[in-house]
Amino acid sequence: LRETEMLLRSPICCILGHVDAGKTKLLDCIRCSNIQEGEAGGITQQIGATYFPIENIKARTMVLKADATIKVPGLLVIDTPGHEAFANLRSRGSSLCDVAVLVVDIMHGLEPQTLESLNLLRSRNVDFIVALNKVDRLYGWKKCPNAPIFNALKQQPDFVKTEFNTRVSQIITQFMEQGINTALYYKNKSLSDTFSIVPTSAISGEGLPDLLLLLVQRAHKTMQERLTYTDQVQCTVLEVKVIEGLGTTIDVVLVNGILHEGDQIVVCGLQGPIVTNIRALLTPHPMKELRVKGSYQHHKEIKAAQGVKISAQGLEHTIAGTALCVVRNSDDIEALKEAIMHDMNDIKDRINKTGVGVFVQASTLGSLEALTEFLKSPEVNIPVRDFSIGPVHKKDVMKASIMLDKKQEYATILAFDVKVMQDARQLADELGIKIFEADVIYHLFDKFKGYVAALRE
Ligand code: GTP
Ligand code: MG
Ligand code: NA
Repeated sequence: LRETEMLLRSPICCILGHVDAGKTKLLDCIRCSNIQEGEAGGITQQIGATYFPIENIKARTMVLKADATIKVPGLLVIDTPGHEAFANLRSRGSSLCDVAVLVVDIMHGLEPQTLESLNLLRSRNVDFIVALNKVDRLYGWKKCPNAPIFNALKQQPDFVKTEFNTRVSQIITQFMEQGINTALYYKNKSLSDTFSIVPTSAISGEGLPDLLLLLVQRAHKTMQERLTYTDQVQCTVLEVKVIEGLGTTIDVVLVNGILHEGDQIVVCGLQGPIVTNIRALLTPHPMKELRVKGSYQHHKEIKAAQGVKISAQGLEHTIAGTALCVVRNSDDIEALKEAIMHDMNDIKDRINKTGVGVFVQASTLGSLEALTEFLKSPEVNIPVRDFSIGPVHKKDVMKASIMLDKKQEYATILAFDVKVMQDARQLADELGIKIFEADVIYHLFDKFKGYVAALRE
């Protein structure tokens, strides 16, 4: 039994919820960090990953249960943005995780992105725990820093308990309206069909021991098989970043398997598959966030699950949201290249073979897929001539300008959730190329439709 226990990998937990529910702050509270206050506008705009070694989790859950059996080596937590514009990042985060925390603000109840997140979790069949956050905002709340929630509730005056109970039952009703059974975790007698609610405060830490313990215990109870460590590398690219001294690096989530320094890897590139060797395998220090610049630990090898920064040559055109493969001796490298480019080629197939159509641009392969799929649908039916991923550069404007003397309405860039570089915008103005920008797909369509109607008048 010992041996199988040792082979469990760390579960991946994704934090989802409406904007400002307190997702990042909850992680700050566990990490003893202050990342949320450093975010532009107090809003998360990237996916992040933090590794919590099991010793740190044990230290935090001690007050609740000193002799808890925890069988996983740690927990890899993925923070996601709650702002409506970042649906693609919520989707990517939820596609990687084994378990999730759905954060709900106790003062607001279920909000639009709570529902969106709930639907993502349901469609992927992911087990989750509800963190009912900001309990300290209940009028008259007596702070009990880092206490188990049951103890903290006992300390509250009756009128606070009453407000707490009222809000909890309202929120349970809201979940029921979505077809979801929920219950306070210490009252939950039916774990198989009822999701647990853990009241928390990310400011004073009440309920955090409960949330952490529940997460790691549930993970290995319900997912033994899924968490069994394998040699087959399963790895996804989160972000492509230029780091001073390292050049272009990729931040990846290693879901399963092991990566070594020097491994030959294949990733999906805009111009085709990229084959390269891992020059450096880096992680932030434990309990530090991967998306925040800092000092890195170098590793000879890394076991799943981890958030890893990879430095290697030729990564410039890697596409975020795609898979990474490792070439082993016996592997057919051509087959890997083909497999890696599969999703990309699917998109190429959607492109109009007559060479007439708009130019589309999106932030990731996933969002590009969504956009081309949408444009192809019969109700919309806008032909696509070419595409790119990442910010709009001058070269993209040049490509779009080919349509100027073929069909003016298609001399257009539909830019979905990407930046437009200043010089690209200037060139577009000079050449008469329209750039429509939106972070919601439907808005792009409305803008384009309005433009075409105006042209035809
Ligand atoms: P996005 O990533 O932008 O979706 O937001 P978020 O869910 O990560 O929320 P964030 O951590 O940015 O917190 C939003 C605001 O709520 C900040 O001002 C936090 O200080 C505050 N906040 C978060 N959790 C709590 C809590 O438990 N109690 C109180 N009083 N305030 C909280
Ligand atoms: Mg956040
Ligand atoms: Na926020």
